[in-house]
Amino acid sequence: MLLDIKELNVGYGDIQVLWDINLQVKEGQVVALVGANGAGKSTLLKTISGLLKPYNGSIIFQGEDITSMPSKEIVAKGIIQVPEGRRLFPGMTVEENLMMGAFRRKESKNIKPELAKVYKIFPRLKERRQQKTGSLSGGEQQMCAFARGLMGNPKLIIIDEMSLGLAPLIVDDLIDNVKEINRQGTSVLLVEQDVQLALDNSHYGYVLSTGKVQMQGNSLELLRNQEIKEIYLGL
Ligand SMILES: Nc1ncnc2c1ncn2[C@@H]1O[C@H](COP(=O)(O)OP(=O)(O)OP(=O)(O)O)[C@@H](O)[C@H]1O
Ligand SMILES: [Mg+2]
Repeated sequence: MLLDIKELNVGYGDIQVLWDINLQVKEGQVVALVGANGAGKSTLLKTISGLLKPYNGSIIFQGEDITSMPSKEIVAKGIIQVPEGRRLFPGMTVEENLMMGAFRRKESKNIKPELAKVYKIFPRLKERRQQKTGSLSGGEQQMCAFARGLMGNPKLIIIDEMSLGLAPLIVDDLIDNVKEINRQGTSVLLVEQDVQLALDNSHYGYVLSTGKVQMQGNSLELLRNQEIKEIYLGL
């Protein structure tokens, strides 16, 4: 098991947001975490990356308890997030932003091969390497955020609301990138409000609703589930 979350309870001060969360990501999988606005998806991600301490429960990564580790160490273990809203440095070029993603690596001189690898997946970014990210299109910015995450050589990449505000054709391209990265060996936690998109492109899925895992299963089975069809797919 790559990531194993057990009985996690999380909140902000006295306001509990997540209740008894159990969630697992196996090596090599794309796992979808779906749910409506305010379900608690981003709260769970903040907890995984060490920005928020849970009331109780545990987060095990590659057999090691990372629940109380500082975020920096969690990143160094290989869990990297592509945050909601992309958070690039708009005044810096594409390449400068990508270099920031490699900063955790000790041998930072040795990032040329990483850059080449990332540019191979995102040729658009290579073409635009000297462009300031503030002037990229929304889709290109998402690509850049994604590529910056990959520069850290993650074992698990967590992508929060990748599709937000983007045209369907661009989202299709990005999803192809996710699949390619997964084929190359990186596990993915795909966090989405777009339930169809996430379940169409993952092995396993969790449905979060008002802070609880309401359903889980193979993504194909979840897509066929009547309740999911009615509540989330509007069918
Ligand atoms: N810093 C905070 N302090 C207090 N409450 C918070 C804080 N951040 C989030 N919340 C609350 O926690 C709940 C879950 O929010 P969260 O951002 O995790 O949801 P989400 O599933 O990511 O939603 P969305 O799809 O809109 O991004 C919401 O009710 C939200 O108001
Ligand atoms: Mg969110």
